Amino acid sequence: MIDPNTDRVLITGAAGAIGTALRDGLRTNWRHLRLTDIRPMQNLTNNEEAIVTDIADRSAIEAMMRDVRAVVHLAGVIGEYDLETLFRVNARGLFDVFESARLAGVERIVFASSNHAFGCYPITETVSPALPPRPDSLYGVFKVWGETMLRNYYDRHGIRSVSLRIGTYRTLPIDQRSLATWLSPADVAQLVDLSLRHPDPGCIVVNGYSNNTRLKTHDPNWVTLGYKPRDNAEDYREMLRDKGVEVDAPDRDEWEWPEHGGSHARVPEQPARQG
Ligand SMILES: NC(=O)c1ccc[n+]([C@@H]2O[C@H](COP(=O)([O-])OP(=O)(O)OC[C@H]3O[C@@H](n4cnc5c(N)ncnc54)[C@H](O)[C@@H]3O)[C@@H](O)[C@H]2O)c1
Repeated sequence: MIDPNTDRVLITGAAGAIGTALRDGLRTNWRHLRLTDIRPMQNLTNNEEAIVTDIADRSAIEAMMRDVRAVVHLAGVIGEYDLETLFRVNARGLFDVFESARLAGVERIVFASSNHAFGCYPITETVSPALPPRPDSLYGVFKVWGETMLRNYYDRHGIRSVSLRIGTYRTLPIDQRSLATWLSPADVAQLVDLSLRHPDPGCIVVNGYSNNTRLKTHDPNWVTLGYKPRDNAEDYREMLRDKGVEVDAPDRDEWEWPEHGGSHARVPEQPARQG
């Protein structure tokens, strides 16, 4: 178990959307938070220290592992990116964070993986993390690679880890798909808190969703972790309807995307090699 009172936790990508939710959710109970991002972090409390650096700076990453017992790895590009940036941040950067953590003796890693690690499964299949990955994009491929590195770290080095396959993290649901895939700020904070506190999670992969009525996945590891999501995207259905979102097609046959990964599994792959 990582002790919230005594152990230092490093959060990468801490200036981002999920990083900000984690800071809000964790800083009351976690007394030693070290935050890093390429962008500055605002409004630090006295139990937060911030280091602004590019994840590509390996020596800076190694230095910030000093006295760290657990790492929450969020830094990454998401949405719009080119191939070189995806490689540099989501592959090489991830590698450098994990390797620096291993070499520094870090005991636990919580990794922001993604539902795009299994996005090519048909939506009609109730997927669980026990099934083999089926990534829907290069973005998803590198998330699976991160999960695979953590498997190797557990088997070879005994490093405990939780890979969270986050669905749609937003303050509120945004579209029809997110009625099934939403993960709320309070629930992501709960997931990370439990992933750090669990006495021995081994090496597990856990779906990161709220308690949505329309969930199309199944995850026994919620019980393993003790995760009891509080929020439900369905509570915002009328808000979405008012915004013109089609919310009355809950049937699997009428689902807006045929695969779990939504548009990722259908649009042409974004990154293209230049020249
Ligand atoms: N938001 C979601 O719905 C969602 C879903 C699945 C997985 N995830 C994963 O969760 C993590 C956090 O996502 P988010 O929604 O907070 O995204 P975000 O873009 O808000 O945050 C990512 C952070 O990483 C930082 N970053 C990017 N490049 C960097 C670099 N070179 N060096 C240092 N820091 C760098 C950014 O500055 C940013 O603050 C990502 O790894 C993402 O892939 C998010």
